[in-house]
Amino acid sequence: MSLLKDKVIVITGGAGGIGEATARMAHAQGASVVITDLEAGPVEEIADALGDRALGLAVDVSCREDNQRMVAAALERFGRVDSVFLNAGIEGQVGPFDSRSDSAWESVLAVNLHGVRFGVEAVLPALRQAGGGSIVITSSVAGLRGAAGLSPYVSSKHAVVGLMRCLAAELGPEGIRVNTLNPGPVDNRMMRSIEDQAKPGHGEEIHKMFSSRIPLGRYVSNEECASMAVYLFSDQSTGCNGNCYLVDGGYCAQ
Ligand SMILES: NC(=O)c1ccc[n+]([C@@H]2O[C@H](COP(=O)([O-])OP(=O)(O)OC[C@H]3O[C@@H](n4cnc5c(N)ncnc54)[C@H](O)[C@@H]3O)[C@@H](O)[C@H]2O)c1
Repeated sequence: MSLLKDKVIVITGGAGGIGEATARMAHAQGASVVITDLEAGPVEEIADALGDRALGLAVDVSCREDNQRMVAAALERFGRVDSVFLNAGIEGQVGPFDSRSDSAWESVLAVNLHGVRFGVEAVLPALRQAGGGSIVITSSVAGLRGAAGLSPYVSSKHAVVGLMRCLAAELGPEGIRVNTLNPGPVDNRMMRSIEDQAKPGHGEEIHKMFSSRIPLGRYVSNEECASMAVYLFSDQSTGCNGNCYLVDGGYCAQ
């Protein structure tokens, strides 16, 4: 299949679970991919393994200039940008609201909200030049529901849903679609961190508790999230704008 033939897609958080799976799947569907993350090593390794049509680049999304450099590199190497996957995120520390320091709030918002803002700012001229495109922001079920102990993270994931809705309304007339991917618990590093912080030494109990609340009885996979992202990049989803796309095994259904 080549759902993304001739498309150029820029990905942040590309060394992480969902980002790497999405980079691989998008590339397999014919896209050229710019895979970015905090450190160059892991993303260069992924890009090298993919071969042609892949570039790995160190980008800190919380830095405006890095976002500009990311888009410039995509244009220089591949000549255009059709989609951006603003996916980099951090969970921060798990704990009660009144134990959260200013710096704990600031670090989560710097990456999860301002990183997305800078990414959109940087990519807009390129999407306009391409005559339209698709922006996909990774929010979460935590962008639609609360969760005890995760106030900065949940606030940041709600914030990007609001930003997505504003952007969808503003940019839709230009043919630029904006949507969020909202995964439920994913079987990867981030959930291990949240589980272990929630119950140090007994993270598996938290894993079981979350799993029991999911109608499918399990966490979703990186690849199941990647499939939705690829769909939203593709011309299969040209009617999709301004919405949250859940991949949560039914978590939010009840
Ligand atoms: N894992 C889950 O259960 C889950 C559920 C819902 C939403 N999400 C969201 O999915 C996205 C991807 O997370 P993941 O599950 O793959 O976890 P992950 O921790 O494996 O991946 C996150 C990636 O973002 C990168 N990153 C962190 N700070 C960065 C920065 N300042 N600049 C650039 N890159 C940075 C990390 O290095 C990492 O590679 C995140 O936005 C996360 O909040 C995850």
